[in-house]
Amino acid sequence: MTIGLFDSGIGGLSVLKKLIETLPAHYVYVADTMRAPYGTKTSDTIEVFSREIIGFLAEKKVERIFAACNTSDSTLVKYRGAFKIPYHSIIQAGVNASKYDRVAVIGTHMTVQSGLYKHDLEARGKKVIQRPAQLFVSIVEEGIFYGNMVEAVVKFYLEPFRKFKPQELILGCTHFPFLKDIIARLMDNVRIIDPADEIVREVSHLVGSGRSFVEFYVTGNPEEFERKLKKIGFKYPYQVKHLEIAELEQKVVYFERACDIDRVLGSG
Ligand code: DGL
Repeated sequence: MTIGLFDSGIGGLSVLKKLIETLPAHYVYVADTMRAPYGTKTSDTIEVFSREIIGFLAEKKVERIFAACNTSDSTLVKYRGAFKIPYHSIIQAGVNASKYDRVAVIGTHMTVQSGLYKHDLEARGKKVIQRPAQLFVSIVEEGIFYGNMVEAVVKFYLEPFRKFKPQELILGCTHFPFLKDIIARLMDNVRIIDPADEIVREVSHLVGSGRSFVEFYVTGNPEEFERKLKKIGFKYPYQVKHLEIAELEQKVVYFERACDIDRVLGSG
């Protein structure tokens, strides 16, 4: 089985790590580090980037696609019902993972602006508070997961949630699980939700086979990406390849292999 994942950088590794533990497969992971971060750009821009990447994955003949990036996923809502290759939405997984009534959500600027978590959770009768925590992305990309500086930044972003007394906190960006220990310490008695756990449950019926292998395609510096893989102790066999933006841009034509555009246009 060949499975595709994508993110702006190393955030999606928090999803890949959990998937690969349960589902042995051949993974193709696109890290668009050259154009990262995604969360500070416009929704239209990220929709185009996401379509290019999905086109690239479709050309690689992946049999399933995991949006390992909430920001990208937030721009793809209109395509959700039209995917021809099974597509797993990280935002839907996060919403489905919620069990309690008072929910706090953190994500990138764009994910929070999209209001998707808030809308879908409120539709289930929950009270929701949300806040962007974009700086967490830079900290994680720098490979800084512990220490006083991280604690101060986490505190700065999460402190305003206290008054709301959330029962749950959704980590609505795949970079954030790397800071989970510090976040959990600051939000004691709050259930911390990593949507990746739910996304893994979605495929628990699938049976993989053989030894997993990961092909990483990195638009920025592949050596730097590999250094980060080593730093987080990624232990599965892999290969890191460079992917030119010009090449990726051309792959947008294959988006239609993954998604029935006419159905989207027809419904719009
Ligand atoms: N890891 C991504 C997410 O889940 C994007 C972070 C970024 O590039 O801003 O939203």
